[in-house]
Amino acid sequence: MEKVNVKPATGKLGVLCVGLGAVTSTFMVGTLMVRKGLGQPVGSLTQLATMRVGKGKDKQYKKISEVVPLSNLNDIVFGGWDIFAENAYESAIHAEVLKEKDINPVKDELEAIKPMPAVFDQNFVKRLHGTHVKQGASRWDLTEQLRADIRNFKAANNCERIVVIWAASTEIYLPLCDEHMSLALLEKAMKENKTEKVSPSMCYAYAAIAEGYPFIMGAPNLCVDTPAMWEFSKKMNVPISGKDFKTGQTMMKTVLAPMLKTRMLGLRGWFSTNILGNRDGEVLDDPDSFKTKEVSKLSVIETILDGKEHPELYSDIFHKVRINYYPPRNDDKEGWDNIDIFGWMGYPMQIKVDFLCKDSILAAPLLLDLVLLSDLAARAGRSGIQDWLSFYLKSPMHDFEHKPVHDLFQQFTILKNNLREMGGYDADECVD
Ligand SMILES: NC(=O)c1ccc[n+]([C@@H]2O[C@H](COP(=O)([O-])OP(=O)(O)OC[C@H]3O[C@@H](n4cnc5c(N)ncnc54)[C@H](O)[C@@H]3O)[C@@H](O)[C@H]2O)c1
Repeated sequence: MEKVNVKPATGKLGVLCVGLGAVTSTFMVGTLMVRKGLGQPVGSLTQLATMRVGKGKDKQYKKISEVVPLSNLNDIVFGGWDIFAENAYESAIHAEVLKEKDINPVKDELEAIKPMPAVFDQNFVKRLHGTHVKQGASRWDLTEQLRADIRNFKAANNCERIVVIWAASTEIYLPLCDEHMSLALLEKAMKENKTEKVSPSMCYAYAAIAEGYPFIMGAPNLCVDTPAMWEFSKKMNVPISGKDFKTGQTMMKTVLAPMLKTRMLGLRGWFSTNILGNRDGEVLDDPDSFKTKEVSKLSVIETILDGKEHPELYSDIFHKVRINYYPPRNDDKEGWDNIDIFGWMGYPMQIKVDFLCKDSILAAPLLLDLVLLSDLAARAGRSGIQDWLSFYLKSPMHDFEHKPVHDLFQQFTILKNNLREMGGYDADECVD
């Protein structure tokens, strides 16, 4: 196969994080600790996984960084924005995810990561009161300020490339509307300051794409998942991906649901509930922000267990998802699933899952992989929705013609095949 022309990963890669909260600070601390040799990047495929390339007698197993050129962790420079002025060290301490002994060895680097003032609108995150925010006449004007931030950060840190990733709070549910349907309409709405139609997260996405850099949406916000943004990312030749990091309960769902389908077992109901006590849990306690999350979490089962395809097994599934804010647990989420299945002759059975997870510990390696792989996609000349990154996402973006793939192992095959293609190998579906 002809080698795809992927530019080498030379120079510094600026990683600009929107939101410097629990997830982002855990990601930054871990990355800095790993590059000092003081931690292991557990959960990160780009750092740990091997994959097969070639078939039969040509078969070889290689690390992903040997298949495709990835930025080295030593070349990453972190920056970002937040509505609070706490630096990354203060944020990591405040989040209480990692112990001080695991943060202090990189304290100096973390203290140097000071968030830039954010674009924020309290109507979109009702539970937060930001103090470190930009002022501007319109959404357009605020976006121009973000573009200047990106340019200044790049110059000041001597970066060759930039990736922007959103790991800030979940915004309220914003349905797709006319203003989102084309780039021209979106730009008009930004200039006319239609604040209820253009969310702050859209300003960040627009700014990244306008500057020619990949954008990743880690929350379920609509943001970059609109025809206007798809069009813009194609026009600017920029990769975009989202939405919503697939970490705990949904990751389990996208493993268990395919199991039921593969064995032709039926499903009557799936009740999922969570207790969570961090700031994310507090934001999601607001019904409008929860609605955005609920839509993202609900899409999974219906797509994998298709009632039209198999009415005898999946026609009438009762699927409910709840998130309860429970401060004593902080970042230690507990996710329960009660799954009512049925087998031979329709006889009922139950599966119970109790996942005592740590949200930010699960999310941090996803941020690292998404950042490195989005940068790779940009160097490979890819643009628009990167559906091969669905592996990492709860509610994978897709255009109106395509259905998303939710099954974790199908997503993994798609991911590996895209890496094979970018590495100059043939895509295949062989079992490893
Ligand atoms: N941890 C997980 O497993 C997981 C999984 C999927 C999605 N997410 C999403 O990732 C996001 C971050 O989660 P977290 O636990 O770090 O939350 P967090 O509350 O600790 O951090 C979010 C940060 O974003 C900041 N912020 C809010 N609006 C902003 C804006 N407009 N501009 C800049 N900063 C802004 C907040 O001040 C806060 O510091 C949430 O949206 C969450 O739903 C997390």
